[in-house]
This record gives sequence, structure tokens and C-alpha cells, in this order.
Amino acid sequence: MPEMLMDNPVDCHDWLVVNDGTCQPCEVPAIPDSPVEPYRLYRFLTDLEDILHATPDDTQRLVQIYPLVRRLLTSSYWLQLEFVNPPAKPGWSVRSLYKEHDFLLTLQMVAWLPGNVSPIHNHGAWGVVALIGGQEKNQFWQRSPTPQHPDRIRLIGEKIFHPGDIVGFLPDAIHNVEPLGDQPAVTFNLYGVTDFSKRFEFDPIHHQARKF
Ligand SMILES: [Fe+2]
Repeated sequence: MPEMLMDNPVDCHDWLVVNDGTCQPCEVPAIPDSPVEPYRLYRFLTDLEDILHATPDDTQRLVQIYPLVRRLLTSSYWLQLEFVNPPAKPGWSVRSLYKEHDFLLTLQMVAWLPGNVSPIHNHGAWGVVALIGGQEKNQFWQRSPTPQHPDRIRLIGEKIFHPGDIVGFLPDAIHNVEPLGDQPAVTFNLYGVTDFSKRFEFDPIHHQARKF
């Protein structure tokens, strides 16, 4: 069983990866205690919909969503256990937590075994990832086009996230992830409506990008 979010609630941090790949600490305002305990998934989804209607700017959305994600995961602890132990092949698993045809958000638990590395990608949507268990190294990339290679990218940094950390991504932020240690990296992932025409997987050797 991976170390869980609630086991390490003090030393948690919020981060934002902006469109140029810079990962910066994110100041999140304190919110009042939830009037109802537990803070259930359906209340979170209602609050989320209210934020999305009232706030068009992605960064401002993320700042408001982070504390609700932390509240949800600590108050509705069962969510932290809603992941599938990843099989050796392909080394990762995804469990959808919510799906509604007219509310096209992605809400899922993802688990990765150490020894696997994700493709280099952006999301084509804003995203919030909370690390539940394990450790996850993120590498951050930036577009660095040349006339010959318009999809060239370059590595600009990396960071290791721990349980309780929440990372937000703007739609063009480019990263890849790699679980570290001997436990699966388990994450709660929330993404806005994906623009698939702007979501890419990058090849830093051949300087290519392809939709995925
Ligand atoms: Fe990602």
C-alpha cells in the first residue's frame, strides 16, 4: 500500500506548470471549512461547475480548484483507495471516477509502476494532478523551434513530487512523468475539456510532435 495523502498532510505544496513549462509554487488562498462533512464527490463536482462557469481564466480556475481537490481527497478518503494496482504490463492503470456526456471533464485515478516513463506530452486542457502515493519525477519541457524543426523542444527543469503535492498544468505545458522508489505512483487527475487538435506527444530526438 503506498503512503497516502492523509498520512503526510503537513508538508504539502501547490505547484503550477505554465505554458512555457516553468514549474512555479502556487499561492492558494485558504477557503472556509466545508459546511458539510464529508465533502463528497458530487459536492465537489457542483462546486467545480460553479467555478468553471464563473471563471474563464485557466490559472484563476486552478487556484480555486486546488483547495477543493485537497478537501475532497482528505474528506472523502475512499477516493484515495480507488485505484487499480497496475499490472507489470503495461505498467500502469487508469480508473475513471466520473463520466457524463454533457460535462466533459476527465476525472480518474492513475497508477504507475516504477521503471516506466510516460511519453512527453501536453494536455490540451487545464489539469490538476494530486499525488496520492509513491513519488513521481516530472520533467518539464519548452518549445524551442528552429526553421528546420518547428516542433523542437528542450528540457528546462525537473521536480520530484510527494504525496499531498498538487500540480496544475496549463493546456500547453509539456511534461513527462516517471515513478521513483519501490511503490506505485498513484495520482488523482482532473482535466478540463480537451482540445485534441492541440494535444501532442513529442519526440525530442527527431524533433517531432504528433497528436495523441
Ligand atoms: Fe500529463
